[in-house]
Amino acid sequence: MANQSEFDTLALRTGIHRSQFGEHSEAMYLTSSFVFQNAAQAAARFTGGEEGNIYSRFTNPTVSAFQERLAALEGAETCVATASGMSAILALAMALLKAGDHVLCSASVFGSTVQLFSNIMGRFGVETTFVAGASVAAWEGALRGNTRLMFVETPSNPLTEIADIAALAAVAKRAGALLAVDNCFCTPALQQPLQLGADLVIHSATKYLDGQGRVLGGAVLGRRGPEMDGVYGFLRTAGPSLSPFNAWVLLKGLETLRLRMDAQSHAALQLAQWLERHPGIERVYYPGLSSHPQYELAKKQQRLGGAVVSFEVKGGREAAWRVVDATRMISITANLGDTKSTITHPATTTHGRISADARKAAGINEGLLRVAVGLEALSDIQADLERGLK
Ligand SMILES: Cc1ncc(COP(=O)(O)O)c(C=O)c1O
Repeated sequence: MANQSEFDTLALRTGIHRSQFGEHSEAMYLTSSFVFQNAAQAAARFTGGEEGNIYSRFTNPTVSAFQERLAALEGAETCVATASGMSAILALAMALLKAGDHVLCSASVFGSTVQLFSNIMGRFGVETTFVAGASVAAWEGALRGNTRLMFVETPSNPLTEIADIAALAAVAKRAGALLAVDNCFCTPALQQPLQLGADLVIHSATKYLDGQGRVLGGAVLGRRGPEMDGVYGFLRTAGPSLSPFNAWVLLKGLETLRLRMDAQSHAALQLAQWLERHPGIERVYYPGLSSHPQYELAKKQQRLGGAVVSFEVKGGREAAWRVVDATRMISITANLGDTKSTITHPATTTHGRISADARKAAGINEGLLRVAVGLEALSDIQADLERGLK
């Protein structure tokens, strides 16, 4: 793993290819297609005989710069950027899976990820089994001869459950399956799954990679080879490509990624400690708390706890909604990863479309709230929550 100063330099200086104008900030190439000098060059580009851009659904220099920079930060050989985090997961699934394949997925993943694997991929003959993400034995026990992909989010959304990446990588290797990790909550600034043995990393760049809630984006990262070629092939054909404008915004986001992740994680830890002492709170979920069931594992594979704190309010949905409705500063919104703090009631929003049974299995109760801690003064965040908790 790059040390902090190496990471910062990579975040600022990778992927810069100046044009003839010598611009200092990265250029934004807002163009759908690229011009060829003649018919022979056009033909050579299309056959692959000559490298170069053809059409922005395939490649674009601003998008390539973002891919290069993110790959450097994750320690990946290659990166394919996508229009959103969900299209990154779709591209991964379409590239790796075929009818008759089996997927193992942690039960504690983002609601749309559950939908994608169970309902959408299910219609194409791919079967998914959901397992308790933190139990290596549960993953091992659910393996089948046709298990092709193991998909995990760690820390998970919203309960910050931690899965042991190195142990799951070993399980996947023994089973001849691939391990993909959604690294949305930590980002490479706090955790680098490929260095722990994972085969593939997924990002919703919409979250901390942007960091200021401006654009949608996603990425799949891994080593060069048939899997990543398949991801690129799907993107090029089906077209969930990242726009060059969004890529430019994300490039700027990466420049401050580590600073933001550090500051927001430190504030989140303090908020979690305060909530843990609060009489109105039943339970706090935060990997940086020693009360977190996988605290030791989190310390081993993450540099800090991350910026998302989830907590269960005493009094169920009514009490939780009261806290949400009493806020005056914290934004009531489904997004996370912003420098502005956000609050969400997962059971009725992000995880509202999955069945009540699946929600219960994932431990998402009616009193649960998720706060993604931003960069406002911690005292203001606490005062905003205190109003509804009183
Ligand atoms: C952990 C995680 N993965 C994937 C996604 C999907 O990303 P996007 O909204 O960019 O499609 C989200 C969105 O909230 C998420 O939290």
